[in-house]
Amino acid sequence: HFYTLRYTTMAVLRPSFTTNPGATESPGVDAIISALKMMPHIEGGYFIETDRSPDIVSSPFPIKASSTSELTPKRPGFDPTLRNTSTTIHYFLTPNGPQGGFHRNKGRTVHTLHKGRGRYVIIHANELGKEKRIESFIVGPNIEKGEKLQWIVEGDKYKASYLLPDEDGGVHSQGLLISETVVPGFEFCDHDFLSRQGLEELIGVQKAQELGWLLSP
Ligand code: GUN
Repeated sequence: HFYTLRYTTMAVLRPSFTTNPGATESPGVDAIISALKMMPHIEGGYFIETDRSPDIVSSPFPIKASSTSELTPKRPGFDPTLRNTSTTIHYFLTPNGPQGGFHRNKGRTVHTLHKGRGRYVIIHANELGKEKRIESFIVGPNIEKGEKLQWIVEGDKYKASYLLPDEDGGVHSQGLLISETVVPGFEFCDHDFLSRQGLEELIGVQKAQELGWLLSP
């Protein structure tokens, strides 16, 4: 138990790449961004919505006052009582846009790896207890080492992710390319970022200091 605890202290979670807004990516990384027509995501990295189901369901989420806030971007004609049954995006972390900051969605998200490696950090904010459980795992192609090809994040949990080199101890990456399907479909009013104060309240000041680099700026 001692070794498990030591190994899973937040101190082992360190960035391998640093955010460089405006820096040119390698030609291979640029080619992926262009071919898939991705754009910068507010969480960090790049994305494109590839599917929004035409089928509509009643929203299972209570409507909060914040969903009518002027700060919340809304799609034209958006009805907050309805949702598309699902949406799917490509999401891409790159050597110069290597991390997605802590945020949560109300819907559950199914993630699928296409290429590259990364680490996910999940804070189980919706579970009981004063200090919330923190989970971390590697997504990547090395399934024999326990890296995941598919991973599910249930609604109301905070999630952050960051790019890892292709090999442990290496420096090379052409990015982490995944797909994410959210059910019911994504809306900004179902999405929020975690603040530093929120992080401290969830996991305590000390762990929050060690994970603060994964907060969105
Ligand atoms: N628009 C901005 N961010 C997102 C997202 O994460 N998913 C979808 N489907 N659309 C978005």
